Amino acid sequence: MRRIAITVAAATMSVTLAGCGVLNASGSSDEASPAKGDDITVGLLLPEKANTRYETFDYPIIKRKVESLTNDKGRVEYANAEASADKQADQMQQMIDDEVDVILLDAVDSHAIASGVKKAKEAGIPVIAYDRLAEGPIDAYISFDNELVGEVQGRTLLEAIGEDVSISDKIVMMNGSPTDPNAKQFKAGALSELNGKVTIAKSYDTEGWKPENAQANMAKAIAAIGKDNIKAVYSANDSMAGGIVNALEAAGVTKLPPITGQDAELAGVQRIVSGEQYMSVYKPYPQEAENAAEMAVAKVQGRDIQFAALTRDRVDSPTDKDIPAQLVPVVALTRENIKDTVVADDIFKLSHICTGKYKSDCAAAGLK
Ligand code: BGC
Repeated sequence: MRRIAITVAAATMSVTLAGCGVLNASGSSDEASPAKGDDITVGLLLPEKANTRYETFDYPIIKRKVESLTNDKGRVEYANAEASADKQADQMQQMIDDEVDVILLDAVDSHAIASGVKKAKEAGIPVIAYDRLAEGPIDAYISFDNELVGEVQGRTLLEAIGEDVSISDKIVMMNGSPTDPNAKQFKAGALSELNGKVTIAKSYDTEGWKPENAQANMAKAIAAIGKDNIKAVYSANDSMAGGIVNALEAAGVTKLPPITGQDAELAGVQRIVSGEQYMSVYKPYPQEAENAAEMAVAKVQGRDIQFAALTRDRVDSPTDKDIPAQLVPVVALTRENIKDTVVADDIFKLSHICTGKYKSDCAAAGLK
């Protein structure tokens, strides 16, 4: 709760200051003595493409926001590592060579990229960790409250099982990539809800967050536990939930157990409508991505007050302490609140969700 209050205060403050004209977007304010003007380049390093959020939301939202903050003079140099830490190291080196003004980094491997972060800093390029907390001398971090994500997933899974939940209920846990610090936080948050209430019969870390790896691990879990003995499946995100559904269906399961997810991907939301997936976690991307863009531009333009207002939380990484941060809150997404979340925020229109075979499910769920 404390973190949430801080986040809201930060967002409000930045709006207020911008409204007073003290910190306007053009760099012409007297109070702020910008290091650079609008003609800036923001380097953006995103980790993969298999999960749709990066190319559907994060990149386009950041690009638009950087442009609007710089009178269309600023640009985003974007590279996607496609789940390869080596590729991301090369992409980061390229951005250092290109002398971008600031780097937003969503690390494939938060530990391995630390030397790249150090090189960027030595070249005078600030690095802001985006979504995943990279190690090394970063200037700031922006993400969602990732432990809360796991708690929300665990709690909602217990709700789905219902009041007769028992320690003899067998759960499969499909966690994210071991090189992503978020995955550890999702897992810890979920376990804080599940431990002592159900039995974690099988638990896997999923290399590269790849849906096909989740599917293969789920097939192993079914073979070990038995297809009719799985009470529920904790899946750390939506695209892995897709792989898990495939594995269960391939094993001949007709009544799917409750399955969790995260990201509110279109396919995940559609599975929620049809009942193949119980829940997802809606993470308001515009808030994370737009605030990241504001942080990057404020940093480059020397707007220290605005930067401080955007980063009023503090986190520790394995290498650095008291990193200025912003942690955005999240909500559980179930069939009941699709309209109040992703539709209300204009992430999807009902006409996107309720296509083809989902039309009748939407009608049955009152989604019109
Ligand atoms: C992100 C999730 C995403 C996962 C796989 C995590 O770091 O926070 O939103 O599903 O990576 O890309």
